[in-house]
Amino acid sequence: MIIAVDGPAGAGKSTIAKIIADKLNINYIDTGAMYRAITYKCLINDIDITNEEAVSNLAKETDIDFKDNNIYLDGKILTDEIRTLEVSNNVSNIAKIKEVRYLMVDIQREIGTRSSVILDGRDIGSYVFPNADYKFYLVATPEERGQRRYKELTEKGYDVNLDEIIKEIIKRDEMDSNREFAPLKKTDDVILIDTTSKTIDEVVDDFLAIIK
Ligand code: DC
Repeated sequence: MIIAVDGPAGAGKSTIAKIIADKLNINYIDTGAMYRAITYKCLINDIDITNEEAVSNLAKETDIDFKDNNIYLDGKILTDEIRTLEVSNNVSNIAKIKEVRYLMVDIQREIGTRSSVILDGRDIGSYVFPNADYKFYLVATPEERGQRRYKELTEKGYDVNLDEIIKEIIKRDEMDSNREFAPLKKTDDVILIDTTSKTIDEVVDDFLAIIK
């Protein structure tokens, strides 16, 4: 079984996908974390992220894997280091590179062929798994999405500014929606859920009512 969960930044995709994976006892793949991992590796290696060839070469030499729903970059587990504002501000530039996407999509499809999985991202239902069993598309207002990210980051001790986060989210949505190859887009066959005024439990219930 393949469950695709797409939508803009901060709409609640990963929170919900993780819970559903637990409840259904299937794998969870955070595909955004893969693009974040490449971005992080470029930043720590001082690679110019506007140099598509350099970024693609780095991606080719990178090993990305998931174990127990955690992402590993070249054998090392990644957690908060890929959630910083610096990574968020740069990730869309990396995610628009076709060669990088091909590499990440190959990994996603390979995982999908050997296990039941729920994947969250931007192009899962539209490009990676167009024949997914279920295609969810989550949305929420930019203000609500910004508030959620702000809460998440401040709870982890980061000193962040709400307006800056909302601006970053809106800019990232624009870039992700307007890139040439496999952009964020709502296809006609999605199950649309607006999470703005819903609790996590309510959204989980919406999912479980649909998944058989
Ligand atoms: O879900 P996220 O915010 O962690 O994703 C980070 C970025 O990665 C997002 O701005 C766009 C990109 N992304 C993508 O292009 N395709 C995906 N399937 C998942 C994420």
